[in-house]
Parts: sequence; structure tokens; C-alpha cells
Amino acid sequence: MRPAVSGQQTPGNVGQDRVRVDGPLKVTGTAPYAYEQAVQNPAYLFPLTSAIAKGTIRSIDDAAARAVPGVLTVLTHHNAPKLLAKTDNELYILQSPDVHYRGEYIGAVIAESVEVARHAASLVQVEYDVAPHDAQFRTGHPDEYTPKRINTGAASDSHQGNVTAALAASAVTVDAVYTTPYEHHNPMEMHSIIAEWDRERLEGVLGILGERPHLRLYDATQGASFAQLLLAPVLGLLPAQIEIISPYVGGAFGSKGIPHAPTMLTALAAKLLPGRAVKYMLTRQQMFRSVGYRLTTHQRFRLGAQADGILTAIAHNVTQSSSRLKQFAEQTVNATRHLYAAPNRETTTRMVPLDIAPATFMRAPGEFPGMFAQETAMDELAVELGLDPIELRIRNEPDNDPESGKPHSSRHLVECLREGARLFGWETRLTTPRGRQVGEWLYGLGVASATYPKQQTLPTKARITFTAGRYAVQVAAADLGTGAWTILQQIAADALNVQEADIKLQIGRTDLPFGYLAGGSTGTYNWGSAIMVAAVNFREKHGQQPAEGAEAEGGAYFPDEAKKHVLDAYGAHFAEVKVSAVTGEVRVTRMLGVYDPGRIINPRTANSQFIGGMTMGISAALQEESYLDPRFGHVVNGDFAGYHIAVNADAPDVQARWIEHPDPLFGPTGAKGIGEIGIVGVPAAIGNAIYNATGKRLRALPFTPDKLM
Ligand code: MOS
Repeated sequence: MRPAVSGQQTPGNVGQDRVRVDGPLKVTGTAPYAYEQAVQNPAYLFPLTSAIAKGTIRSIDDAAARAVPGVLTVLTHHNAPKLLAKTDNELYILQSPDVHYRGEYIGAVIAESVEVARHAASLVQVEYDVAPHDAQFRTGHPDEYTPKRINTGAASDSHQGNVTAALAASAVTVDAVYTTPYEHHNPMEMHSIIAEWDRERLEGVLGILGERPHLRLYDATQGASFAQLLLAPVLGLLPAQIEIISPYVGGAFGSKGIPHAPTMLTALAAKLLPGRAVKYMLTRQQMFRSVGYRLTTHQRFRLGAQADGILTAIAHNVTQSSSRLKQFAEQTVNATRHLYAAPNRETTTRMVPLDIAPATFMRAPGEFPGMFAQETAMDELAVELGLDPIELRIRNEPDNDPESGKPHSSRHLVECLREGARLFGWETRLTTPRGRQVGEWLYGLGVASATYPKQQTLPTKARITFTAGRYAVQVAAADLGTGAWTILQQIAADALNVQEADIKLQIGRTDLPFGYLAGGSTGTYNWGSAIMVAAVNFREKHGQQPAEGAEAEGGAYFPDEAKKHVLDAYGAHFAEVKVSAVTGEVRVTRMLGVYDPGRIINPRTANSQFIGGMTMGISAALQEESYLDPRFGHVVNGDFAGYHIAVNADAPDVQARWIEHPDPLFGPTGAKGIGEIGIVGVPAAIGNAIYNATGKRLRALPFTPDKLM
């Protein structure tokens, strides 16, 4: 059934400002996060981690640890439950004495308290046969390779026309190298897991058929259903034998997108302790070891243009880090393929395999580092041409998608740039650097475009049941603090043409209909679509006066017409900075993002998503960098003393606006997804403002004071 685009015949909950329905629960401490779930007989885990980057464990002496009162057991590769399928190397842990990276889990102590577990873990003696490791990211690495595909599923490389010839014939060119560092996710809530094993009875029509193991996980995850699918084959279970409960998540930026080693470690530990629920919350330091991170990139970006600014060639050659244990081929070239017109185009992706932990998704993986390069290069070109950087972008606006030739489902980038320029006071910008100084502070303005694509999702379902006078709406969605609890209720109320109070939403559990994860900015248009289809089915089946227990399901619907188009969200970022001429310190004094996000379901939660993304972008621009010491293979600044994240004082005036053009090809909600578009392009806008202030071009993130002196 195809529902109409939201807003067409509805009581109008969608689009209204609504406070978070889970807000009161959270501020009164009654919204249980994973680690706070009440369980019988809890036991506590503290991990053992490898002190070398590569080699083999020769021996583990855990006698002293086992002798500590309160220690229940010590888990190592000697006694670990056997795993079945090696479908995910990151989850296939403790099956051999091999060490693949420093900080890798090699076991755990489980005890009656976390303090005892931690103390006992410090008493475990491990000896290794050390092998030479390589943790030094560099270009020209002898083992550098081309991935078969990048994470979007597209080919690693793309070629159109003749870039070399076009660059040689261009009136103006830019040829520069841009780099982005390793970064680590730090949501307020560290990853946390409770695991307990039961036996479940299987009953057939003739009675009891037998029993089978059942694993219950309370896990801080962006997608309970997806985690269940990924964990099952490794554990040798059917997905139905794993139950994951995750109603509230204390922030997540990709590291909670798919399960990592901590979930498996806790599940294995619990299997050794029947009748006990094993609890594990990572320390802040452990967040820098075993839950993924943003990989590091080296990007050569070349542009060729005519004297009037019309691009003749775009070339983006990316080399990025990889773990020898598990590839993560980030789509750093993706936005380059789609943003600007040019007849000659080239993108390439190369991976450098290292003895380091696997990388994972981190807010706008690919588009974020890639657009730092592209949008800085565009600014450099504007300087070379003596052309306004907004005008340069507008002149290279494509009629159709430059790579495929397909039309856009909707594209309002130029409107975002123009509206942003008006609101931000772009006309006050001086075209010559060092033109505006107040005391020691040099001021400048910068701009960058942003784009973020519609992602593919797995088939998501919703169920609606009429019970006790209300509509129970079920989908295994996840609310990371983003507002999903609130906006899905708004969507459901409109779709059923009832009040929000008539909706009883249920999300965050595997016993609900399958929901794809809260990732790739898909949540609203994906879960929302399933709810809208279920509502149409429900009304067709049961009418306006349903009987108690009336039920209907629906699957997320995306129009076939979408396949003939290219689907993206857009935005424009504007930054004002001041740079100290004395210390090189950069302060972002003002930021504005103007977005083309399709339909906005709730302006309050949407605004938070946008300014959250922009604040994380400021953080990445000025502060965030994980220093991986190649001598040892681990991150040396792995805590909040050494790894700095933007606080309120770093982001004093961050504002978001949007131009609302609902896009039905994104699905019936008309929403394009807003979780990631807010961060893409922010460091380029800030770097371009720094150039405007100082005349100094920075091409390596983050923009720390040393780079300006
Ligand atoms: Mo987000 S990096 O797609 O979880």
C-alpha cells in the first residue's frame, strides 16, 4: 500500500514543535540505560587486553587473580566457549592465542564487583611471543591495495573523460594534499552490555519439543534487530535465540551501529556463569580501543577550471588506513562523484593495511573527510580565480547527477547557499585576508557546501495493534537521544489520524518487528515509512472504529521512481572565526547551517540534530585527533585529558535554518534524514574562514595553534 506524503490529510502533528516524550523519564532517572537494567544475580566484568600489537600469547598465569576473594572466573582463549562462523573477524574473539592489535581483548575477569574484577585483572601475568608489527600509516606502503568496493557498494575507482589532459589545458588549477586524523567516538554513555543465558522451551502442537539456549543482551545499540543478525552466526545461534533490549541509548555516533568485541566478550563470559547476568561498561579509556573509530586519510585533490570558474576536471585520490583484521572501506570519494559538474572526473580509493584495531562508522563516514578536501579545494580555486566562493559553487551546479546523468529527486543547494549568505551577512566579507583585525584577533568568514546521500536499508516493518483504547505502534527502532521516540509518535498519530496521546510507541527491542539501524541518517524516513504503511493497512482492514486486538503490519515503502533518480540532502555551512595573531588560537565566533532536509517532522529535535552535527564539526576542526603511536600501535591520548572535544565555550553561537521541500522519493515521510548532514563540510567552512582571516591555508585537520604559527 502506498501512503500519501505526510501532511496531506492529517491532524497536523507532523511539523509541530514537540518536547521529547522521553525527557521526563531521562531527567528523573527512570529511563533505564543498558547498564541500569534490573537483573537477578549480577556479576561484573573487567577485560584483559593485549600489551603488544602483534604476536602470540605464550602463557597466561591467572592463579593470583583467581585467588582474589570475589572472583568468579577468568575467561581466556583456553576456556572460552567455541564460536561457530568467522563471518565477522571483529566478533570472532578468544578462539586462538593470536594477537592482532594492541588493546585487543585477550580475556576477562568476572567478579562479584567491578572493583574486584579490575584489581584481579591487574594480577594476571601474560607472556607473549612478539612479532614485528606495522602501525605507521603512510602513502606508498608496499601492501597498499584497492578495495573491491567502497562501503556504499560502489566501485573503488571512477573515471570519466581525461583528467590529465583537462588539467593540462585548464586556465587555473588546484593540486593539493589534505589529511584527516584518526578520531574516536565519545558519546556520554560508554558502550555497556549485560548478558545472560537461559534455556528456552520449544513447544510444538503435540507438546514440548525440547530446549535451546537463549541469550538476552541489554546492549547500548543503534539497532537491536541488526545486531541480532550479525551476532547469531558467530555464536552458532538462530537470530531468534538472541534477544536484545535497548530502549534508551545515551548518545551514539556510529560506534554503536554494529556490535563490536565488547558485546561478544560479555556474552562469552556469561556463558561460563550459568544463572548470572554479566555486566560490562567500558571505561572511557577503553572507548579508544575496541569499539571502532574514524580512520585516517591522505587525500590528493585536483581541480581544473576555465577563467570564468567553470570546472573542467575533478580528481580525488584517497589513501586511507585499514586494519589487517577487518577492512572498512570508507566512501571518502562519494561526495566528489556527485556534487559539482565537470566533464573530466576521477576518484580512487586505496587502503593501507596495518596491525591496528578495525575502524567503523563515525558520523558521516566518508562524506565528512572527503568534503573537507573537496570544499577546501573549491575555496582555493576561488582564491586563484579571484571569484566569490559561493558564486564559484553556483556556476558549477550540475543539471543532473554528474556521474550517472540521472536527475536529482530534489536539490536545493543553491537556495541554501543564497539564503545562508543573506542571513550570515556574507556581503560584509572582505576578499583580501588580514583585512579585519581587532586587537590581537584576525577575523574571517568562510563557506562550504554539504551533501549526504540516501542510504540503502534492510526491509523494515511496523505493527499496529489496537488495545485498551490506544494504538500500540511497534518497530525495532532506536533513539540515541535524537528524538525518535517523539517523532515516530507524531508520524504514527498523523498516519492513523488520531491524537498523539492515542499512540503507545514501542521501540528498541528485538521482539518487535525488524527495524534497520539508526545509522546513515535513515531512521526517520525508514521507520516512519513502515509506520505509515502499517497505518494505511490498519485502516483498510479495520476502519475508523477498530475492535480490541485489531492488528495490521506494514513494510517500509520506497517508490520505484526513486531508482531513476539520485537522492541526497544538501546544506551550506557558514563560519566566522577569529584567530589570535599572537598564539595561533582559533575561536569560532559564529556558525550557521542552512539545510535542504526534506520534510521536518519536529523542528525542536531537528534543530538539535543540526546544531549537534555542527558542534561535532567544530570539534573535529579545532580539537579532535587520536595520536596513534606507531612504535606501540595504540592511541596514546585515549582519555578526556588528551582527547579534546568541543564544549559550550567552543561553540557559542551555532544556528541552523532549513528550506523545507518534502521529497516523496525518500519515502512517504518526505524527510531526507538529518543526523549527518550537519557535520559534513563544517571543518572546510572553518578552514576557509581561517584563510580569509589570516591568509594561511590549512590542509591538515585539526587546526591546532601550532599550524598557524
Ligand atoms: Mo552513523 S556514522 O551512520 O551511525
